[in-house]
Amino acid sequence: MKFPPSSRNWITIIGSLIAVLNFLLIIVLFIISTIFNKSNTNLGLFIYIILPGFLLLGLIMILLGMVISRRKLRKASEEEKRQLPVINLNNPRHRKAFIIFTIATIIFLFLSTYGSFEAYHITESVEFCGTLCHKVMEPEYTAYQNSPHANVTCVECHVGSGASWYVKSKISGLYQVYATLTKTYPSPIETPLHDLRPARETCERCHWPQKFYARTLQSNRYYLADSLNSEWDVMLQMKIGPEHSSLGFNEGIHWHINPSVNIEYISENDKREIITYVRYINKETGEVTVFRNPDYPVSDSLIGAANSRTMDCIDCHNRPSHNYNSPSVYFNKAMLTGAISKDIPFMKKVAMGLLRNTFPDKDTALTQIREDIISYYKSDVGDYYTKNSDQIDKSVIAIQNAFSQNTFPRMKVTYDVYPDHIGHLESEGCFRCHNDAFISESGQKITRDCNLCHTIVGQGKPGMMQFTNIRDTFEFRHPVDIGTIWKESNCSECHKYLY
Ligand code: HEC
Ligand code: HEC
Ligand code: HEC
Ligand code: HEC
Ligand code: HEC
Ligand code: HEC
Repeated sequence: MKFPPSSRNWITIIGSLIAVLNFLLIIVLFIISTIFNKSNTNLGLFIYIILPGFLLLGLIMILLGMVISRRKLRKASEEEKRQLPVINLNNPRHRKAFIIFTIATIIFLFLSTYGSFEAYHITESVEFCGTLCHKVMEPEYTAYQNSPHANVTCVECHVGSGASWYVKSKISGLYQVYATLTKTYPSPIETPLHDLRPARETCERCHWPQKFYARTLQSNRYYLADSLNSEWDVMLQMKIGPEHSSLGFNEGIHWHINPSVNIEYISENDKREIITYVRYINKETGEVTVFRNPDYPVSDSLIGAANSRTMDCIDCHNRPSHNYNSPSVYFNKAMLTGAISKDIPFMKKVAMGLLRNTFPDKDTALTQIREDIISYYKSDVGDYYTKNSDQIDKSVIAIQNAFSQNTFPRMKVTYDVYPDHIGHLESEGCFRCHNDAFISESGQKITRDCNLCHTIVGQGKPGMMQFTNIRDTFEFRHPVDIGTIWKESNCSECHKYLY
């Protein structure tokens, strides 16, 4: 084979190498994907997009090199032309070198194919996302493992399928690696994520809106901070959808994701916590209703300039996976399962007095939790501790475990830094809009009516519970007497600061 003289330059030679290598890689990957039947979109990304990209780069380099060297050759046609070394396979030294080179290339090819295949899988794994930068992602990784999505990988929500989001995520990943190495990341990591992939393309792959949900029954159990850790139960019939699921989105909580409903809002500093303006567009009739909150007046120029957000799953389900519980919630759960003993007097009160503190790091927190609880029972209740030390020690361990799963002092992560927008007890949640303060020009309110989203079908202390017929509802009874304040103020106004 004879190559034209213009091809004898380094750009062309390197370009040819790149092209040939990538071509072989593509073939090998293609064979692998066929043999092992791994026909997922992401391997396809390699075979059909990334490697061909490099192949193209190689081809461009070949041409570029030839053009440049041709110009040079023309200019220097009088000068002596430099030739590349001649490889003569009849020469034993040349032959040996050639064989070694070939074998090395094949091994290299094989390894790099295997390597890029594996590397790709690794970058998509939960372990990679959750533990590589151990300190930074520890809160998410820990909370995630205790969530309903523990078997859904991080990338299924954060990246989704398809090439463009994969590339986008790897580019922003490079910046994240830089931020981790230089320790310039914020702690806690900022929320909300403004560039999260739209829920339509992630959540809806598994929870398609055409799969309607009907009403469900939710039982909640609480323990009060009194001497008996008194139990209080509330049973709610959640109106997620209509009474009959086949009625679709016409009413109920998931009415917001009805395709003909469009709810846009503006929030302070785009944080989605304090909502200042809501616009509901009925896409079927074209009717537009604007709700304003007199406590947060917004000017028309600001409305024009602000980034309004269209409500989707994430505006309610903002913590579907890594969700951090408040001390009260994780304590109640642990007492419910018996991990913390109900028989220890004032157990909840003592724990609540402690768990809301800020601790410099986890070890200090765990030590302090242990010492404070034990010293309380040693000093305040006389010989109670000596008689019940087993029970108290067991409960302390349960509290420490629950604390470690929900609070991360190093990254300054607590439940109130990352509030959950479902509900309204400890953060405003639904009451960000449903607060009776938002009012339209025609006087319509975004209501806080207790029966809009759920009915109360049972409440009270065990043994003294009131129950009602499933089509009826009780007026809410607050577990401790606070008069009628709960009717006027949002629950979170007290509950955010309760303990
Ligand atoms: C079921 C879907 C889902 C899974 C699985 C998931 N996330 Fe998220 N994650 C979200 C959503 C939704 C947000 C956006 C919250 C917001 O913007 O209000 C988010 C936000 C984040 C944030 C920003 C801080 C915050 O909490 O708002 C980090 C960091 C994060 N996720 C890391 C992870 C890691 C690491 C994993 C895997 C161990 C993971 N996520 C798994 C849905 C998910
Ligand atoms: C890869 C599939 C998958 C994706 C993507 C996914 N989910 Fe899920 N989701 C599940 C599975 C599986 C369950 C558990 C179902 C069960 O236990 O019945 C679940 C449960 C839920 C639940 C009920 C939780 C509970 O407490 O029982 C909610 C709410 C939810 N997902 C919301 C979301 C949101 C919001 C997103 C997008 C940010 C999302 N999911 C993305 C598969 C997925
Ligand atoms: C961004 C503002 C906003 C948020 C946040 C919000 N909603 Fe709404 N919601 C609205 C608006 C606007 C309406 C329509 C009010 C009207 O037309 O009277 C509405 C209506 C409803 C309805 C009545 C639907 C029907 O017609 O049957 C329910 C139920 C509801 N919301 C539940 C919730 C729940 C539960 C949450 C929290 C998880 C929530 N909403 C959060 C704005 C919001
Ligand atoms: C207006 C707020 C709101 C929006 C928007 C919203 N949800 Fe929900 N969703 C809820 C509430 C409230 C519940 C009941 C939660 C509970 O009982 O703890 C719920 C329940 C669910 C459940 C569990 C159903 C069951 O039977 O247990 C799934 C799954 C779910 N939502 C998925 C989604 C998906 C996917 C989207 C977006 C397409 C979405 N939701 C949009 C408020 C919302
Ligand atoms: C806009 C919808 C909406 C309105 C209005 C509303 N709630 Fe709720 N409420 C919810 C949702 C959603 C939850 C479920 C939270 C969860 O699953 O964690 C909830 C939970 C509760 C709980 C259980 C508390 C918890 O989180 O453990 C009580 C009690 C309650 N609501 C009482 C009330 C009372 C009293 C009113 C009237 C002042 C009211 N709700 C108005 C949506 C609403
Ligand atoms: C004036 C302040 C205040 C307001 C407003 C308020 N609460 Fe409470 N709440 C309390 C106090 C105090 C307790 C008792 C705490 C204890 O003994 O552990 C309590 C306890 C509770 C408990 C059981 C304790 C637990 O483990 O979380 C529930 C449930 C509850 N409140 C629901 C509500 C709901 C729902 C609203 C809004 C409709 C509301 N509260 C409004 C002060 C308030």
